[in-house]
This record gives sequence, structure tokens and C-alpha cells, in this order.
Amino acid sequence: MSNLEADRIKEDLKATVTELSDTYEELSLLYRLSEEFTGLGVDGICRLLLQKAVSLLGIKTGAILFLDSDSGRLYTRAYTGRWKADTSFKKEDSILWRAILSNKAITVCNHNTHRERLERISCDSLLIIPLNGKKQTIGVFLVADKADGREFYSGDMKLLTTIASQAALFIENALLTQEMQTFLIETIRSFVKALEASSLWTAGHTERVTRYALSIAELLRLDAHEIEKLRISSLLHDIGKIATPKEILNKNGKLDDSEWSEIRRHPIVGAEILSGLSSFREVIECIRYHHEHFDGTGIHGLCGGDIPLMARILAVADAFDAMTSDRPYRKKKSIEETIDEILDCAGRQFDPVVVRACIEWLKSPDYIVPPEPEARA
Ligand SMILES: [Fe+2]
Repeated sequence: MSNLEADRIKEDLKATVTELSDTYEELSLLYRLSEEFTGLGVDGICRLLLQKAVSLLGIKTGAILFLDSDSGRLYTRAYTGRWKADTSFKKEDSILWRAILSNKAITVCNHNTHRERLERISCDSLLIIPLNGKKQTIGVFLVADKADGREFYSGDMKLLTTIASQAALFIENALLTQEMQTFLIETIRSFVKALEASSLWTAGHTERVTRYALSIAELLRLDAHEIEKLRISSLLHDIGKIATPKEILNKNGKLDDSEWSEIRRHPIVGAEILSGLSSFREVIECIRYHHEHFDGTGIHGLCGGDIPLMARILAVADAFDAMTSDRPYRKKKSIEETIDEILDCAGRQFDPVVVRACIEWLKSPDYIVPPEPEARA
């Protein structure tokens, strides 16, 4: 073998090794990204995508624009750096729909399109990557200017394309999940409204309890997944009352012992009604235990941390609404009286940590006195 041939084989081998190593790096990045994107909602994925661009490319500015198919405009869904949150583009804007790299160095060659792009985004260096799911166009990912002042090069574009295409698939799935979740929640809402319409005393109770529970949950820093589960649990928490005789629910006076024990069955009945929905496991547990007492004297005798946190939150939110609403056998309490009673029950009926969060919320500007329920016929 001649020296020339040996050199050529050496170069070929070197190129193959580099190629393999690049492929390996790309695959391993995709694997790590998949793990990180899994379980995140749309906003979480967008935030992570921007963080990745900052950490891997050192960008100063980045924006994720989503296509609104109704208006045909691209609006800013997430951004970092000095991007204006209200920036939007027309769908027809041709600069957005293919991967583009524009640097000031290119504009020096008097290339008007590149110059126009950089001027419109007010930057020296720009990368635009379309975000396409398997079935739908999601929008575009745009990054501008590196913190070290260097310009983008083709390697940056390849890296960003890899990350963005992976993110686009996860965003597409998350959007679909979100859509199904909205449909599910709206269906539950209509169902609960129909249920409440047959009772003279519980109009609006479910919506108010849901609002209270979520306000408390936010102060307790529950994550987005738990918040969504709590929303569904709150909307469904009294579904078991469907089996409670209407004469008891609508009784215009004090309930006797047997009527109370009938009412007390509703968490168990509610959990039974939903028991076929395996993906609702935590929701079902929350409904089953939303009338447990923190000291273990409730229906099932569960106490303290053995009661699911969502059920402990729901218990306080439910009781707060019950105390601040008129009932056939008693008048509603004032906010001050309600706070006193909830504080009095902390550690016995309610989790003291949840009570503290509830009081914090009631004393915060976020608390708005609910409107009086509409007069019922
Ligand atoms: Fe209840």
C-alpha cells in the first residue's frame, strides 16, 4: 500500500469516526431530551427548550411563536432575553417557515433579505427553526445573538434543529392532551351543573370549591399535574350525591341522624361511580377521603399524612364554602367567624398546614368575596 493510499484510508477512517461520534452525540442528546420533556405540559416544554438554547448555544434572546390557526397569526408563547412579549407575525410571513441562519457577516455582502430579517428582529445574528409536529404545524423557534458576540454557524443550526424537532413532537402531544383535558373538564362541568340544578342549596358550590381548592394548592406549591388532578377532583367531589334522595338534599330544615348518614355516604358512592376509570386513581382517592378528619375520626378513620394531600385541601375548601353559604338549617357565617372556626378545627378536622395556606389566601388580595348565589325558585 502506497503512502498516499494509507493517508487516504486514515482520513476516511477519521471522517467515519467523527461522523459516528456526531451521530452518537445526537442520539444521546435526543434520549436525554426525551427524558426531560416527558411529563411536561406545553409551557414546561417551551421553558425547557429556551433553557437548552441558552445553555448549549449561549443565546441572549429566544422566542417560541405558536401559530393560531383561527387568526392565522404567530404569537409569542414563551421567550427569554429582550424579546417583546407582544411580538406577533402574519402566518404568510415567508421568513418563518424554513430553517434560516442570518448573520451580520452575510449582510455585509449586501444581501437584502438577511439585512431585513436582522433589522426586524433587531439583532446581529439569527437562527429560525420551524416547529413541526407529526400532524400539525406548531410554530417557530427563534434565537438571536450569542452572549459571547460570536455569530451562529451551521453546527449551531444542526443542534438547534435536533432539539426543536424533538420538542415539537412533545408539544404536539401535550397540546392534544390539553385539548382532551379541556373537553373532559367541560363535560364534567356540564354534568355537575345538571346535578346542582336539582338541588335548592348547592348552586355554584362545586365551582366555588374548585376555585378555593386551587388557590390553596398554589400557595402550597403543588405542581401543574397535581393542580389539574385537584381541579378534576374538586369538580367531581360531590358526584356521589347523585344517589342521595332529593328530599334529603332539598329538605327545608334540620336533617335527622339517618338523613345525615345518608349524606355521609356520598364520598364512598362518588368513588364507586368513578372506580372504572383507572387513570383517575388519585382523583378517586381524593373524592373518597375528602371528608376524612386529620385526627382520624372521619368516615374511614384515616389520619394525618395518610389522607391524600389533595383530599386534605379539598376538605378545607369544601368546609369553607359550606360555612360561608346559607343552609336550610342555618345562616351563613361571616368571613371572620369562618376563619375562627377553621383555625379552631386545625389539627382535629383539618390539616394545620392546609389551614395556614387557606388563611394566607383569605387575607391576600387574591381572595375575592364570591357573589351571592342566584335566588332559586
Ligand atoms: Fe362532600
